[in-house]
Amino acid sequence: MTPRKTVWPLEPHTRGKHEVLRHYLAAWFPILGSFAGRVAFIDGFAGPGQYEGGEPGSPLIAFEAFRKHASKLKGEAAFLFIEEKADRAEHLRRLIESADKPKNCKIEVATADFEKKMTAVLPPVPIIRETASLVRLV
Ligand SMILES: C[S@@+](CC[C@H](N)C(=O)[O-])C[C@H]1O[C@@H](n2cnc3c(N)ncnc32)[C@H](O)[C@@H]1O
Repeated sequence: MTPRKTVWPLEPHTRGKHEVLRHYLAAWFPILGSFAGRVAFIDGFAGPGQYEGGEPGSPLIAFEAFRKHASKLKGEAAFLFIEEKADRAEHLRRLIESADKPKNCKIEVATADFEKKMTAVLPPVPIIRETASLVRLV
């Protein structure tokens, strides 16, 4: 269960998830970026971007994976981080603001409910819009 505090200690299972995410994106960012004009990464349950011991959360892990390959990408990367709790979204926003950002990226931190935000940003094609309720990201 997610605690009530803005940031909380990193649990072993989350650390494991982050390892998988880190390796997955290290492989996929260069592949997608070599042919796609735009790569989008959406973290629908973003959290505050940091744990109590200073470890990065999933949004910063994704951003760092992109940053390592940014110069090799043909196009740009767009990040959408969705977090419903205002204090956590604000914490993440501050971390992103202070990060060193390559030119070819856009980042939005939305204080919003995942499903509502996704429904608002997805194109008005029923099969795609229905995906919002099926895809629950990291
Ligand atoms: C497990 S934590 C985030 C972990 C983070 N993705 C990571 O791996 O570092 C889940 C987060 O989702 C947020 N959350 C829960 N329900 C949500 C919803 N319907 N829309 C957006 N955020 C939500 C919680 O406030 C919490 O911060």
